[in-house]
Amino acid sequence: MNPLIVWGDQLKVGLPLIDNQHEQLIALANLLYLAMKAQRGREVLNQLFVDLANYTIWHFDTEENLMLENGFPNAAAHFHEHAELKRTVSELGEKAKHKQLEVTLETMNFLRDWLSHHINHTDRRLAEFIIAKQEGTPAKRPELRLVVNK
Ligand SMILES: [Fe+2]
Ligand SMILES: [Fe+2]
Repeated sequence: MNPLIVWGDQLKVGLPLIDNQHEQLIALANLLYLAMKAQRGREVLNQLFVDLANYTIWHFDTEENLMLENGFPNAAAHFHEHAELKRTVSELGEKAKHKQLEVTLETMNFLRDWLSHHINHTDRRLAEFIIAKQEGTPAKRPELRLVVNK
C-alpha cells in the first residue's frame, strides 16, 4: 500500500535537526494513514492521531525557538501558519483523546497537502536563512590578552 507522503530528498531542507523531525512527522502521518486504510479500530486510530498531534506541536516549538534564536525576519508569518494548523490539530486531538474522532481520508489529504506545502515553502525559507547565516559567520577574532605598549 502506498504511503500518504513519500519521504525523500525532495522534502529535505538541509538542516539535519529539522529534516530528522520532518521524517519522523511524516512517518507518524503515514502510520495513521495506513492504519486508517487497513480499517483499524477507532481506539488505535485515535491514539495514532494523538501521537501525531503531539509531535506536530513539539516540532513547531523547535522551529519557533530556532527562529527566535536566529532573529529570523519572517518569523511572524511562519508562526501564523503554525498557529492555524495547531488550532485544527488541537481541536481534532482533543476529540481523539476521548476516542471520538473519525479519521477520514479528507483529514489525511488535508494534512498531506498542508505538510508538503509548508515544508517545501515556509520551512525551506527558514532553513535557507539559517544555513546562510551559519556560512556567513566570520571566524571569531581571538581575544588578545597581552597588550604590548611600545
Ligand atoms: Fe514550520
Ligand atoms: Fe516543519
